[in-house]
Amino acid sequence: MRTPLDSPFSPGSDTVPQVWAGRTAYLSDWRDALRPRRLSGIHERGRTILGEAGSGKSSLVRRIAREAAAAGDWVTPQIRIPSGTDPLKRLAAELLELASTAGLGSARERRITDLLGRVETVAASGISLSLRTGRGPDAYTSLTDLIIEVGREAMRRRNVMVLLHVDEVQNITDDNARSQLLVALGDALTHEEAVRAPGNRMIERSLPIAVYLTGLPEFADMAGARTGATFARRFRTTILDPLDDGDLMTALQPFVAEGWPVNNNAGGTDPVFMEPAAQRAIVELSCGEPFLFQLAGERAWYAGTSNLITADDVRTGWHDAAAEAEAHVQRILDRLPARERQFLETMAKLPPEERTLARIAQGMGYTRSTDAGPTAQRLDSSRRIIHRGRPYGFRHRAIEAYLTSDWPW
Ligand SMILES: Nc1ncnc2c1ncn2[C@@H]1O[C@H](COP(=O)(O)OP(=O)(O)OP(=O)(O)O)[C@@H](O)[C@H]1O
Ligand SMILES: [Mg+2]
Repeated sequence: MRTPLDSPFSPGSDTVPQVWAGRTAYLSDWRDALRPRRLSGIHERGRTILGEAGSGKSSLVRRIAREAAAAGDWVTPQIRIPSGTDPLKRLAAELLELASTAGLGSARERRITDLLGRVETVAASGISLSLRTGRGPDAYTSLTDLIIEVGREAMRRRNVMVLLHVDEVQNITDDNARSQLLVALGDALTHEEAVRAPGNRMIERSLPIAVYLTGLPEFADMAGARTGATFARRFRTTILDPLDDGDLMTALQPFVAEGWPVNNNAGGTDPVFMEPAAQRAIVELSCGEPFLFQLAGERAWYAGTSNLITADDVRTGWHDAAAEAEAHVQRILDRLPARERQFLETMAKLPPEERTLARIAQGMGYTRSTDAGPTAQRLDSSRRIIHRGRPYGFRHRAIEAYLTSDWPW
């Protein structure tokens, strides 16, 4: 028996889904490069992970953070920045929590109690603090100092990392607030600490601190506008691609092979299986979109109660999900500037082999094809919705399916 209560699929946002697919390069970047390197004192930039809505940014970093916390690292929760709020206030409040995890709260050292006091003031008044009083250190320098202090404490424990995750960074629309936040985090990342090495030599090392920023692709432009070069030196930015079909198939393989265990009334577990045809149908319908993958899986699970999820269950379930799938793609398209959207629609109308810049530009009513060049570049490099090969093609397979076929219906 399967019931909705047991479904392992989670199309809601911000969860770490139980049925996880791919993103192995990112997980390995944390496990094999970022964490071990910073733990041994080698500098590594912060990570900025951007992508269209529903591409799985928050889930990815939450998964990394969960893994880190399980290993004993000191981790902030996902610090979401709601539109129009003061990010320094939010960060200050979370840093105070982190400081107490690190045991700094009980420190008697004057320097530390003063520092905690300064950060408490930032948590209360935010960025307006330095503007109002006009004296004393700026709000952001207090935050940097506290991150460094927590980093020092982590370094003393040897195998502990500090991980900060700021989400929805595109919501920080105030230039001043954004640059102060980036400087506060960046300064802590680049800070070098003098430590005594074997042989009584003094060396400089980085602290075991990692910062992840996640949000929509627009953030790259915003961050680049005023602090472009500095930002790029301090944060490595990547844009999430859709998931591979192979990764999605692999994620569902446990259902096909040994069955997904659900609790039964007898205190044990019973496996829920999936037909290979159902597995393929879910993968095809989701077009590489993590959100749609969870949605298709959930609906197929809900479509019946037997211990076998059939291809029919997938079809029946998707029938109810199609409107939501359409809304998902529509939302991504609606957010695009008119020109980018027009570009995609024009490109989609052309037969695949005729999708060249010249033909698309012509279709958009431009006299010179170079006029459409910047739009094409944005859709490729900043959003990764298309690729500019010969001919051009779609990377975002759900947008492609929506614009070129009757998917999701
Ligand atoms: N690697 C993955 N494998 C399977 N499902 C995933 C994966 N990553 C994310 N998901 C699912 O995709 C959905 C969207 O994920 P998430 O909320 O992380 O996206 P997001 O990029 O942060 O979206 P938004 O821009 O709306 O904040 C969630 O339902 C999540 O469970
Ligand atoms: Mg998110």
